Amino acid sequence: MQKKFYINGEWVANSEFATLQSPHTKEVIAEIPQATAQQVEVAIDAAHDAREQMANLTALERAEILEQIAQLFQDNRQQAAEIISLEGAKPIKFALGEIDRTVETYKFAAEEAKRLTGELIPMDAAKGGANRFGYTIEQPIGVIGAITPFNFPQNLVAHKVGPAIAAGNTVVLKPASQTPLSALFLAELIAQTNLPKGAFNVVTGGGRVVGDALVGSDKVKMITFTGSPAVGIGIRNKAGLKKVALELGSNAGLIIDRNTDLDKIVAKCVVGAFSNQGQVCISLQRVYVMDSVADEFIEKFVAATKKLVVGNPLDPTTDVAAMIHADEQVRAKNWIDEAIGHGAQLLSGGVISDDVFEPTILSNVEAQMKVSCQEVFAPIVSINRISSIEEGIKQINDSNYGLQAGIFTNDIKTAFNASKKLEVGGVMINDIPTYRVDQMPYGGVKESGTGKEGLKYAIHEMTETKLIVWNQE
Ligand code: SIN
Repeated sequence: MQKKFYINGEWVANSEFATLQSPHTKEVIAEIPQATAQQVEVAIDAAHDAREQMANLTALERAEILEQIAQLFQDNRQQAAEIISLEGAKPIKFALGEIDRTVETYKFAAEEAKRLTGELIPMDAAKGGANRFGYTIEQPIGVIGAITPFNFPQNLVAHKVGPAIAAGNTVVLKPASQTPLSALFLAELIAQTNLPKGAFNVVTGGGRVVGDALVGSDKVKMITFTGSPAVGIGIRNKAGLKKVALELGSNAGLIIDRNTDLDKIVAKCVVGAFSNQGQVCISLQRVYVMDSVADEFIEKFVAATKKLVVGNPLDPTTDVAAMIHADEQVRAKNWIDEAIGHGAQLLSGGVISDDVFEPTILSNVEAQMKVSCQEVFAPIVSINRISSIEEGIKQINDSNYGLQAGIFTNDIKTAFNASKKLEVGGVMINDIPTYRVDQMPYGGVKESGTGKEGLKYAIHEMTETKLIVWNQE
């Protein structure tokens, strides 16, 4: 029950603990060690000392380690998924899906480790460049501090640990305080691989102690963070010359054109809005549907939502379970009440029953209401009518965020126009904004963050490009 840190390839006991509760049963499921700044320093030192050994591994050796991790997740799929459901209340069918993605993410990382190349520079294209031979190599940067969220406690960790290992770096991981067991399970798996001791470390704790120690250490060369804009901006402000990659969420929007086959898209939209209780950075939060098909879409969407099975995350039939914490459910309820108080219409849900926040649909939502302009991170979706696609684009762009957006249309010009004008990191044509496969570039503009994930892109963020020029005269 009492967990340990994983530092320098060893399990390290601690005397200070915080209890971890299941969001579903509210029972205590573990006691999680709480690190002091000095203990974080010990982990950073271990990662620092392991740099050379990591940097000296061949691409093949790094790829083989990543393949070992992928295989271990494959072999322990059910257990890894149950841990996610237990500590994060993610319905088990989605938790199993997350583990399948985690396997794929480590496999992609293994492949990218073998493709890490530089480029030839045409030196003689410049005056003074004759008889020079120039090329670049991508070198590891050293210790990476990874600070990860609760909503994908294995796959979003894989998106930081996978590319870090592929590039030959070392890692100190600070998992979300709500979901540390998944990170500690990863450490158990990594302990069975050929990864050098000290190359991967897990330090747990609540509050800001661990994060501040990582950001404040000169030995840590990059922070890769997924979480809220407030924390992300704080990290950037304190990080000095460290590299920083920030994935900070959004209020993702979708446009539905008049020519869309609604029967084909409704089930997808329901998954986009409510999977993992809407606690997904690209959860479908705002739908803008053309007036002529709005009634039909709303009717079908509400009917499909009402069929969702709400309850125990470990039950394979469950679609929606408790949010990560009771306080979050109260926060979401307050936002809904505020919207309704200002004229929004409740079409479904809007209540907490049996400790679960029911999937909630609102219409007539004004742009300045919290459920629209802030990241709702709850099973709440707003559906508004639009009279033109331009209006939908304008509404989606009227946001501090810009991670991904979607548009369903059969008109190719409309699709091209929207993909050009939407101010986001990724536009999904004929799909929901929640669409993601793990090798694609993923990252936002505006307050959605800086830098890209997706193995190839994250590896680039985690290396230093070094130029080498030979004078042949
Ligand atoms: C996220 O919440 O940022 C991750 C979404 C995903 O990987 O599907």
